[in-house]
Amino acid sequence: MSTTPHAHPAPSPTGYPVGGTPRDAADVGFRDLTDELTDVGLELTGTIPAWLSGSLLRTGPARWDLTEGSVNHWFDGLAMLHRFAIADGGVRYANQLLRGKAGRAYEQTGRIGYREFATDPCRTRFQRIASLFDPGLTDNGAVNVGRLGERWLAMTETPLAVVFDPETLDSLGVERRAGKLSLPNAHPHYDHATGDMLDLRIAMGPRPRYEVVARHPAGGERVIAKIPVRRPGYQHSFGLTGRYAIVTESPLVFDPKRLAVSGRPFIENFRWRPEQGSRLWAIDRASGDVRGPWTAPAMFCFHHVNAFEDGDALTVDLLAYDDASVVQALAIDRLREAATPPVPTLRRYVLTAGSTAVEPRQLAATPFELPRINGRHQGRPYNVVFGTGSHHGEDGAAGGFLETVTKTTIDDGRTAVWRDPGAFAGEPIFVRRPDGADEDDGVLLTVVLEPARESSSLVVLDARDLGELARARVPHPIPFGFHGQFARA
Ligand SMILES: [Fe+2]
Repeated sequence: MSTTPHAHPAPSPTGYPVGGTPRDAADVGFRDLTDELTDVGLELTGTIPAWLSGSLLRTGPARWDLTEGSVNHWFDGLAMLHRFAIADGGVRYANQLLRGKAGRAYEQTGRIGYREFATDPCRTRFQRIASLFDPGLTDNGAVNVGRLGERWLAMTETPLAVVFDPETLDSLGVERRAGKLSLPNAHPHYDHATGDMLDLRIAMGPRPRYEVVARHPAGGERVIAKIPVRRPGYQHSFGLTGRYAIVTESPLVFDPKRLAVSGRPFIENFRWRPEQGSRLWAIDRASGDVRGPWTAPAMFCFHHVNAFEDGDALTVDLLAYDDASVVQALAIDRLREAATPPVPTLRRYVLTAGSTAVEPRQLAATPFELPRINGRHQGRPYNVVFGTGSHHGEDGAAGGFLETVTKTTIDDGRTAVWRDPGAFAGEPIFVRRPDGADEDDGVLLTVVLEPARESSSLVVLDARDLGELARARVPHPIPFGFHGQFARA
């Protein structure tokens, strides 16, 4: 009998192997990781392409259970950095708790020290008012990593980011991304001509507004445009073309005047107001002129996928949920019970000069999240989106969360899927083959949880056919995380 390099136990009648069900994935993938490894060589099966050389840097929450109680939400776990260094056909791995002020406060006290997305350490009204003098915003950069000049930043949805060393993963200090009363999101874009990081942020204060800002690597920033708004909507990402930044507002909104004094964790200040619909604006990056808003039916969005110009029209593709219930669905207790959250679909909004309303078109039937594209097509026409999806068994039963790697082609609306029964996949990061011309000529790097083995692996897939090329096994399970970036050697 032949065996594959990563043989699994025999599948059960449910299609999952023993120890590899969605329930097992929830147990292992949302368990605290306390292990920190400095620089270990990983056991490898398969072959890594010779051209692939560099580091995959990822962040994600990794500790939810504190000495006193637990945090409330997946997003609120303490951030852990992970590094997969790929060179000469081998993979080395390191991981380290992010030791900004939130990480250090937790290590010193065993408690959460700062306001997180859905957890607030200030339990009493008195503490709440006292905390106005020190907003106590977190720097728990569990959402994304990015590079500004020579500095690598671990980011969350507050003005504070932690600078870290991409080799050792040591935390080097805390950097301000915006003023105290601003909330930048953790999905910046880049202006490759200038090296600027482009941020979208919600500026609060007496005149709340969305701001698109270019931050310069050497310090300083330029506010490109301001969009006044009475009740801002939750912002997680935005769109970018060569000429325009696109701001999309979901009707999950809050009142900035009440946020500071409500005594509730951040996200509990938001209200779902579907009657107001969604809105989109296009901002000329050079002049700062704002076009729009275009109105659209209510939807909720974490991730824009891409945007591009076509004459006078602007195409904006994003992953849309019908409502904002996903926010509650990602509470840590619900995920640990293996409840499967909703998964969004790819929708296209075409903004034209002659219209003020836009009706989106669904581009593909198969839902997915954590979208990635070939960076060369950022802001340009494209046809391929990668992501992660849920597997649904033949009996129609809901499957696991973060289970498959998906490849959706827009021209035919089809989605190809990579699935390894009993394993659970994270965000697939596309790395282009250096002389590759086709949009999908490269590899996908995805961190896969293998609950039956109590391990995780870096899996390298051929982005053309989703065939598995290599798997490098980490000696501990890596909790389900969010985003990462590949830094070429
Ligand atoms: Fe995100």
